[in-house]
Amino acid sequence: MKSIVAFAFLAVVISAVSSELHCTVKRPNIPNDWIDMVRPCVEEMKKQIQKEINASMKYLAMGAHFSRDTVNRPGFAKYFFEAASEEREHAIKLIKYLLMRGELVSGVSKLIKTSFDALPTTHWNNAVAALEDALKTEAEVTKSIRNVISVCEEPNDNSRFNDYHLSDYLTGEFLEEQYKGQRDIAGKISNSRNLWATMVNLENSCSIKNCCKQCKIKYSRPQFV
Ligand SMILES: *[C@@H]1O[C@H](CO)[C@@H](O)[C@H](O)[C@H]1NC(C)=O
Ligand SMILES: [Fe+2]
Repeated sequence: MKSIVAFAFLAVVISAVSSELHCTVKRPNIPNDWIDMVRPCVEEMKKQIQKEINASMKYLAMGAHFSRDTVNRPGFAKYFFEAASEEREHAIKLIKYLLMRGELVSGVSKLIKTSFDALPTTHWNNAVAALEDALKTEAEVTKSIRNVISVCEEPNDNSRFNDYHLSDYLTGEFLEEQYKGQRDIAGKISNSRNLWATMVNLENSCSIKNCCKQCKIKYSRPQFV
């Protein structure tokens, strides 16, 4: 009983002390007319930051997967680790952009923390499966960036503030990279599939001696997800 009372007392003291320690950093008293972003646009940007972090985590998991001694595809591991770094860089760029516009003065760490949920997938059956997953992720990110642009051009909050600069930044810096990246992954899927098809053809229909004469590799466009 004594210990319960002591514990309750301690809990009260701790909560009193921690509430005293809790403080918020107030914006210093400077003019804020220059801060002109509108809320719906800022909210979409915050979501986009989380999506970039999510993509980064996914590629980190892919890099780790292909690094395992039982999987051992160092080329793919390197490719995905680099992709993870690029996505992290995108998140940093968006955070810096918001800070430049006078936003995100608080809650930055919360924004990052909420993204750290468990990853839905940490295993891919082969390189093609991982590349297809990556291409699907990139297509979603592209769609999402287009949505941010659309909201920031017409925020639908009666302000009618068209955020030309942000739209331009996202179009030039982000969409450009998205389209190039998607094309790169699509090409890698073709390579991997053709290589795979060649190997299967060789095994199935060729005697080792005259295999090159017999095998015809079809270079049709693979079916992307
Ligand atoms: C980030 O990924 C987590 C876990 O998969 C998910 O719950 C969350 O909704 C994602 N965030 C965004 C903004 O898509
Ligand atoms: Fe990205």
